[in-house]
Amino acid sequence: MLRIKQATFIKSIVQLKDRPTPFLTEFAFAGRSNVGKSSLINSLVNRHNFARISKSPGKTRTINYFLINESFYLVDLPGYGFARVSEDEKKKWHYMIEDYIIKNEFLRRLFVLIDSKVGLQKNDYQLFEWLHQLSIPYTVILTKIDKIQRHILKNRMKEIEHISSGIQENDILHFSARKRVGKEDILRIMEQFLKSSKGVLPNTNFKST
Ligand code: GTP
Ligand code: MG
Repeated sequence: MLRIKQATFIKSIVQLKDRPTPFLTEFAFAGRSNVGKSSLINSLVNRHNFARISKSPGKTRTINYFLINESFYLVDLPGYGFARVSEDEKKKWHYMIEDYIIKNEFLRRLFVLIDSKVGLQKNDYQLFEWLHQLSIPYTVILTKIDKIQRHILKNRMKEIEHISSGIQENDILHFSARKRVGKEDILRIMEQFLKSSKGVLPNTNFKST
C-alpha cells in the first residue's frame, strides 16, 4: 500500500498558472468550508497542524500544494459555502476552483468531501451538477463519521448515490480524522490512480495556460 514517507508544504496559489513546478500528479480535496479537508490531509500525512485547521470556517482561502514522497501533490482547495463572505469573495472562489479543475491536466482524482453530520447542502448539489456537466469524475468522502450513527451513514450514502449518476456504494468512502478511520481506503485509491496515467479531463489534448 502507498505509504506517505515525506510531506512538504510547497506553495499557496490563487490561479492555476502559478502552480509549482515540476508538474506532477495531483489529488485535490474539495468541499464545504469546515467539512474537514485540512484535517484529512493532516491525517494522511500523520502530522498535526500540517495543512492548517481551524475552528473558524473559511480558513483555507488559497489553493495549497503539498508535495508527497517527492512524487505527487495533495491539494487543499478553499472551502465553499461559508455564509459570512461577500458575493465578490464567492465569485472569486468559484473562479479559483473552476480554473483549477477545468484546466488542470495533472489532476488525477478529485475527492469531494461531504460532512456526514450535516449532509448534502445546496452548494454541494451545485458542485455535483457542474462536475457532471463537465464529465469530471470524482470520489466522495463522507467525513466526521465519528459524529453519527450507522443508520444515518446509510442514508447519507443513499442520498449521494441518488444524485451522482453511476456512483456506487463502494465509491463512497468513510472517514474520521478523530477516530482515524478510512485513511487506508483513500491511500489505496490514490495508489490505483498513481498507477494509471490518465488525468480527469475528458480532453487529454487540453493545454493549460
Ligand atoms: P476550510 O479550511 O474552512 O475550508 O475547512 P476544512 O474543510 O479544511 O475543515 P478543517 O479540517 O479545518 O476542520 C473543521 C473543523 O472540523 C475543525 O474544528 C476540526 O477539528 C473538525 N473536524 C475535522 N475532521 C473531523 C472528524 O473526523 N471528526 C470530528 N468530530 N471533527 C472533525
Ligand atoms: Mg481548510
